[in-house]
Formats: sequence, C-alpha cells, structure tokens
Amino acid sequence: MKGNELRQAYLKFFESKQHLILDSFSLIPENDPSLLLIGAGMAPLKPFFTGKLVPPRTRVTTCQKCIRTGDIENVGRTARHHTFFEMLGNFSFGDYFKKDAIHWAWEFLTEVIKLDKNRLYVTVYPDDQEAYDIWHKEVGMPEDHITRLEDNFWEIGEGPCGPDSEIFYDLGESRGCGEPDCAPGCDCDRYLEIWNLVFTQFNRTADGEYVPLEKKNIDTGAGLERLASVLQNKESNFETDLIFPIIEKAAEMAKVTYHTDANTDVSLKVIGDHARAITVLISDGVLPSNEGRGYVLRRILRRAVRHGRLLGIEGRFLTDLVDVVIDILGSGVPGLIEKHDFIKRVVANEEDRFNQTLAQGLDMLGALINELKEADATEVPGAEVFKLYDTYGFPW
Ligand code: SER
Repeated sequence: MKGNELRQAYLKFFESKQHLILDSFSLIPENDPSLLLIGAGMAPLKPFFTGKLVPPRTRVTTCQKCIRTGDIENVGRTARHHTFFEMLGNFSFGDYFKKDAIHWAWEFLTEVIKLDKNRLYVTVYPDDQEAYDIWHKEVGMPEDHITRLEDNFWEIGEGPCGPDSEIFYDLGESRGCGEPDCAPGCDCDRYLEIWNLVFTQFNRTADGEYVPLEKKNIDTGAGLERLASVLQNKESNFETDLIFPIIEKAAEMAKVTYHTDANTDVSLKVIGDHARAITVLISDGVLPSNEGRGYVLRRILRRAVRHGRLLGIEGRFLTDLVDVVIDILGSGVPGLIEKHDFIKRVVANEEDRFNQTLAQGLDMLGALINELKEADATEVPGAEVFKLYDTYGFPW
C-alpha cells in the first residue's frame, strides 16, 4: 500500500465510524502560546478536549502535519526519527472512550491493512485494568503480548493528558538486542511503536496540577511513515515511497549510491527528512529568520545544505528537492501545490545566502588558521569559533 493510499484508508475507515475528516491544521499553533510548532495530532484540537470550544462533531479524524526538532541529531541515524512527519489520528470529544478506541484500532490494523495479529503487542498503564481487560478478554490479545508500563502516560506540557496504551509491531528477532527481557518499550529496534491510544481524562494546568476533565476523550496518534514502513516491508521510514524518491534525487545530484557508505546514507536521509520539513514549514507561512519558528526553519535548511556539501554537491540543490517533495505529498497535504513557486523562491534565496555565508566563513577560517599556525598555536580559540558561529552564521 502506498503512503498516500494508507493516509486515505485511515481517514475513510474512521469516516465509516461516523468521524468527521478535517484537513491538517497549520504547523503554526493558533492561540496557543505554550507551543512553538504543532508536534502532535491532538495539539491543534486542545480547546475541543478542554471544552473551551465546541468541536464541529464529537468524532474527528485527521492526518496532521507535525514538526519535532528535539531529537534532530538522531535524524538520519535511526530508522524513525524525523523533524517532519504526519500523524494519523482519531479523536473523541466526550463521545466514545477506551472500548471503541481499542476495538477500532484492532479492526483497522488487522482487517483493513491486514497486519499479522501474531506480530502485534500492546502496553498499558500499570493501573489501567480496564484497558488490559479490553485487550485481553475482548480483543483476545494473549497475556504475553501485553506489558504494563509506568511511562504509558501522555502529556504535552499544559493541556489534556491521560494514561495511554501503545501498539507495537514485532519486526523480528533479527532487529532486536537479543536480551532475555527485550519487550515492547525496549530501546532496541525490534518492537516498533505504531500507534498510541491516549485516554484523555485530565487537564494539566500551567502549575502542573492534574484536574479531571468533565468529559473523557480519546486522542490517538499513528505515524504515517512508520506504518508505511511496516506495510512496505522497509528497513526504515526513509525507504518508504513517502521519502525515498527525495533520497534518490539527492543521490543522483551528488553522484553517490545509497547503501554503499554509512556516512553517505546519514547525509542522504538528513536531506530527505529536512527537504520535507522545509517545504511544509514554508507552505504554512514560516519564513527563515533569526528567531522563533523562522530560526527553526533556518536551522533545518542550513543543516540540509551542509549535508549536501558533505556529499559533494556544489551550489543550489534544495529547490529541486522541493519539486520531488510536492510531487509525493501534493495530493495528500493541502496547500503545497498552490504555494509551489513561492516555496521554491524562499528556499532559493535562503540557500544562496547560506552559500555566501559558507564561502565567507571558510575564507575567514582559512585566514585565521594561517595566523594561528604562524604563531605556533594548535587550537582555534573558542571566542573566534563563537564569532564565526554567532555573527557570521558559520556552522559550529
Ligand atoms: N498525543 C499522542 C501522541 O502524540 C497520541 O496522538 O503520541
């Protein structure tokens, strides 16, 4: 199943369960000073969970654009870290609760996309006997496929939160650490978390208090790229049809071959990931700058350019990748096709500016190194490094 088909199948499935399909919200949060960028499917829906706003329907389903940069150094080094990803979700605002959320997740996974039941595992919050019993007694999940985990509690700073139940797919022993206690929740790659069902029943206040919500809700999140990697039987999200064509294009421009060198692969994956993030951020109105969201964009774009240099690509290249990103995502992510030219112009300007910065920084660094060598020094002083970084934007 192609990534775009999977997105559609999910939304249609929940539409058949009386959910209203909403377009992805912008990455720029509305009326939410607690967030810089949207990083979860539920984030733009917070006011519906807390009762501050009335939702258009009590059941909603979305495929939400998300940006997370906390783990940016892991991007390209693991099978599943991204700065940009899409999160599939079904939401109940005071409507259905645990029982339906669990049964429908199971139905979608085993009957619609037909995953092998024997490879599915779940975790539940230690005290949540109700979720345990639904999985075990109603769904028929064997007890040795259910783990109770203390950290099964989902929250995103202020706002709605609650215990959760995560669904994992067993990628097989060959992907595991081999430790006898390896189970879902282990840090190794064997059990891939594919879906998180959050039973939202508290509101966390700015003071860190957990106030029970008047109505109980459901917030679920399934990473589109991860699910696609399972369905397409790929080693990582980067090899799915949602990302791989970008990597292929970058490899062609750099005249390198994917999967021949570990460092080359990291750079290609970073570029594949970052090209998507850049395109979608700009389409939502973020522009490169030295602060806030604009700085996040600038940092991601510059990282992509640097990895391009590491691969030996000279000159502007990201604009061509924007074409590939929009070719892949244009039909599923609203707003990209209409803003195609604009996105390319912004990327071209920023890329050119950064290339000038790099050239200038390299000249300065070269001169500095010569001076230092003449003085028999063996280190570039921190103050000089800082000046290059802070004043000239030269990468550390
Ligand atoms: N909010 C939960 C998450 O992001 C489920 O949607 O994982």
